[in-house]
Order: sequence, then C-alpha cells, then structure tokens
Amino acid sequence: MTSLDLHKRRTAAVARGVSSVISSYVDHASGGTLVDVDGQEWVDFASGIAVTSVGNSAPRVVAAVREQVERFTHTCFMVAPYELYVSVCETLNAVTPGELEKRSALFNSGAEAVENAVKIARHATGRPAVVVFDHAYHGRTNLTMALTAKNMPYKHRFGPFAGSVYRVPMSYPLRDGLSGAAAAARALDIVATQIGADNVAAILIEPIQGEGGFVVPAPGFLPTLATWAREAGAVFIADEIQTGFCRTGSWFASSHESVVPDLITLAKGIAGGLPLAAVTGRADLMDAVHVGGLGGTYGGNPVACAAALASVETMRELDLAGAARRIEASMVGRLRALADRDPRIAEVRGRGAMIAVEITVPGTLEPDPLTTAGVSAECHRRGLLTLTCGTYGNVLRFLPPLVIDDETLSRGLGILESAFEATA
Ligand SMILES: Cc1ncc(COP(=O)(O)O)c(C=O)c1O
Repeated sequence: MTSLDLHKRRTAAVARGVSSVISSYVDHASGGTLVDVDGQEWVDFASGIAVTSVGNSAPRVVAAVREQVERFTHTCFMVAPYELYVSVCETLNAVTPGELEKRSALFNSGAEAVENAVKIARHATGRPAVVVFDHAYHGRTNLTMALTAKNMPYKHRFGPFAGSVYRVPMSYPLRDGLSGAAAAARALDIVATQIGADNVAAILIEPIQGEGGFVVPAPGFLPTLATWAREAGAVFIADEIQTGFCRTGSWFASSHESVVPDLITLAKGIAGGLPLAAVTGRADLMDAVHVGGLGGTYGGNPVACAAALASVETMRELDLAGAARRIEASMVGRLRALADRDPRIAEVRGRGAMIAVEITVPGTLEPDPLTTAGVSAECHRRGLLTLTCGTYGNVLRFLPPLVIDDETLSRGLGILESAFEATA
C-alpha cells in the first residue's frame, strides 16, 4: 500500500481536523531516520514533536515494553497498584531540579499534566488566578486552550474557555530588546495592577517556549518570576513538557538558570514514545490535595512506566544531555554561517537539540510565514522532516532525536542549507 493509497483511505476515515505535516506514511523508524511505505528515507529533525529523544524503538525501551506487556497491561493504579508507578515517581523526584522533598502523579498527555498542575496549585493556595504568557502553548483541552496563546489552529471557535486565566508579555529578546529583569518587571506590573498578587494561584511558563517559537527568555527573566512567586505565596510551575529530559542539554531547562520550580509538568520525552505525563514537585503542594482528588483510568499505565524507566536509563547511560550539547554545537555553527549568507534568517536561537531559526523580511522584523513554509516544504521534498512554529508561523524548528549520529545530523543540515539556497 503506497502513501497515496493510504491518503485516500485516510480522507474517507479520519476527521479533517487532525492534520499531518507530511503526506508520506511511516513504515519504520530508528534513531535519526524514518522510512516511509514508499521506501523513501527521511532524516528526522522532529522526533514526533520532541518525543523520541532516545530514538524510535530504542533497544532498552523495546525490551522493557515487551517484558511488561507479557506480565500485565493494565490494572489501573487507582484500583490495584504496582511497583512500576512508584519507581517512575521516585525517578522523577530524583532527576528533577531541587534537593527538596517531592511527590509525583502520573497522567497520559501533556495537557492533562498541565490541567492537574493548575488543579494542585489552586487547591493548595485556595486562589483562582493563573498567569500565563504571550506565545505560550500548554495543550488543546478546555483549560489548556485558555492557557495557550495562539488562536489558529488551536482555539478558533472552540470557546468559551475556562476563566481566571491572565496573559502577560513574555521576554522575547529579538523583538523587545529588554533585559530579563526589565521584561519581568513589565509582566509583574500587570500582575500587580490587573490581578492582584493575593489572587494568584500560579505562574505557569515554558522555560523555553515550544510551539510559540522556541523563544528563549532573556537571562534573569525566569529567576525573577520564580522569586516573585515565592514571595507572593503563588506556585511557580515550569512546563517542561517540550524542554525536559535532556532536550536542551541539561536534564531540565529550568536548571540553565538555576531555577527550582515548585511544580514541573512533564510528558513527551519521558517514555520513548509511549504516552505518559507527570506532575512532579514540592511535597507540601502535591500532598495538599485530598485523597482521591487526582487520578484517571490510564494515568501511569504499566507499559508506559516500563518505557519511562528504560528511557531514563538510556539517557543516563548514553549521557543524552551531553549529546544534546554536541548537537547544539554542530547545528548552531552551521546555522549561524547560513544566517550570515541568508538575510531572511533574523535569528538562530535555542539550546541543546531544541534549535530554531526565525525568518523575517530581510532587514526588518516583519515575520515571513510564507518563506518559512516554503523552506520547510523544500526540506520535505529533499527528505528532511522539519517543523514550523511561532505565533506568526515564521519559525523553523529542529528537534532531532538525541541519539542521532553525526553523519545523519550533518546530512540533515546539508539538506536544510540546500533548501534555503533553492528558495532564495
Ligand atoms: C510546552 C507544552 N505543554 C503542553 C503540551 C501539550 O502536550 P500534549 O500534546 O501531550 O497534550 C505541549 C505539546 O506540544 C507542549 O509543548
């Protein structure tokens, strides 16, 4: 069956609202490439949106999943508990930033983790307001749509949305030129005047924004917000769903600025491609919720838990945080050289294996989503799987698996360079 045949079946069977970046259908995939059903190989700069950090079908993950599937597939932790769930929580409490007493709870998707972090923060503080940022992305459920900034395609005609959500400006060095402290003061002034510190349950922020454009806040922005939250009795929640698990060259992106979040939301890279998510954080906050107040049928499914433990072992054994830093060094060098030749690239930014280029009309900051889509489509024609992002759709982002080998990474960058040249 070819991709064309599958596309015809899809059109007749799958809801139109569920879209795909490419129209080729995957046959198999490994640590840096996908092969489609037509036999074409793709260099993978997407990792299924920052999920397969340990690679697709990583050996340890496959072995752990196989073994667990044969033992039992589901009992529901809320009905009949099992060790794997406890082990994953112990592991998360140990690997996340901060030497404090922590607890974790497991869920299925990133959006569900964010919803639960907000529930916990509201319950623990007895306050309603949640502060979020321009360009933020936190998911597609009702509360997380309210927390997400961008209308199209995430929110358009899906309202009304959940209340008590307040949006403030993000630090966006390319566009605002502000220091971290000045950008934080701008945001906190709005919190003080429009919400009131005493009403704030939580500040929720991605340490590096994902879907919003790989926006890296100016140094000092995150620590200033975290300090403010501590002094105001509000909960500082870091959404590390895209940045977590070695992606940015550190186990968690908060650590680049020595920030210890009160709660962290986790998903994506946690389990080598199996659906698992978590909230990890301060024991006093997590345990504030009454018995039975958190849960769900599938949260912490044993097969996903086995995959998570195997993924974390793989990250440790292969030093994938170090691998992400090496990817950054190769990528940023080549991309900066490309930016010197191509005035459409306004900025190369990101950390580790979470790197992007922002594309604008040359000599201006006017976003150029058409060129961005054109370059991305050209990459696809040449066998490189890239993704776009950004509020204006003018950011091309690169999220290779952290286990990608040097040759494949270099081949992908070569395709990218040739796609820019072909569309100049
Ligand atoms: C920072 C962040 N938060 C939340 C989510 C939502 O995760 P999920 O798609 O698993 O619900 C995403 C997904 O892209 C994300 O990047």
